Amino acid sequence: MTDQLDRLDAPPGGEPNPAATTEIRKPWWRRLGIFPPALLSLVFFSYALPPYLGLDPSKARIANLRQDIWWHYPALVLHIACGTIAFTSVVLQLSPWIIRKHPKLHRVSGRVYIYAGVVPGGVLALLITPFAGGPVGDAMEGGLWLIFTFVALRAVRRRQFAKHRRFMIYSYALCAQIIWGRILIIGLLIFFPEVIQHSFGLVLETASWIGTFINLAIAQWWLERTAKKGYVLPRPEKPTRLTTAAGGPLPHV
Ligand code: HEM
Repeated sequence: MTDQLDRLDAPPGGEPNPAATTEIRKPWWRRLGIFPPALLSLVFFSYALPPYLGLDPSKARIANLRQDIWWHYPALVLHIACGTIAFTSVVLQLSPWIIRKHPKLHRVSGRVYIYAGVVPGGVLALLITPFAGGPVGDAMEGGLWLIFTFVALRAVRRRQFAKHRRFMIYSYALCAQIIWGRILIIGLLIFFPEVIQHSFGLVLETASWIGTFINLAIAQWWLERTAKKGYVLPRPEKPTRLTTAAGGPLPHV
């Protein structure tokens, strides 16, 4: 069944929402395009990646690196590599300009995001989750990341573009939730170091849940806000295989 949000942001049949045909003046922060998410990824990488670049297990920042399990460190490093691919390629996915002008780049970076980023990164996350500081939250995030991304992929294959957009936004929200754990831990280390000393496990578990909750709430807010403002899905300027399949108008739902 078509759900309400899909209809709100893109009515069936491919006809633009009349409320949306008026030119909407974007606020200044929306004109920044993919610059803010790109900056977010770069800041995260510059903080999180250096300890792993030398492949030295003694530099790993995780609370419980299992020396007795030979594959724990390699799996962690591979997870980080795939997470880096995901958190980089997803930035290109967020650009309506790329969808309109360079649909091929959108498709290729989307495949990189899914097959080189989310799928291996998410499966490896689930593999190392039992040894993690916050195992329940991490398993929930990893599972949702894989499921939402799969739903987004299936939707685009069925030409349900509004649903594809919605679930890719959820997928990005789950990818980017990783920043909150670091913000929480750095904040506590500065202002309440005793909490880290006494309840590190609880802090790590809380970090996963808080990050997921905040980001999914922001994603939902964004979807509802853009729907209310009469958001129209970006379309490639030249027809592509997906947009012209069956020859009819571009379906949205
Ligand atoms: C929902 C998606 C993700 C899940 C469920 C997840 C899960 C995990 C888990 C379970 C660990 C081990 C933590 C421990 O043993 O205490 C970990 C570590 C790590 N992950 Fe992810 N991860 C995800 C996405 C990402 C992404 C997109 C990146 C981007 C590069 C990333 C980078 C890292 C890093 C750098 C570490 C090592 C910990 C540190 O040094 O802070 N993860 N992740």
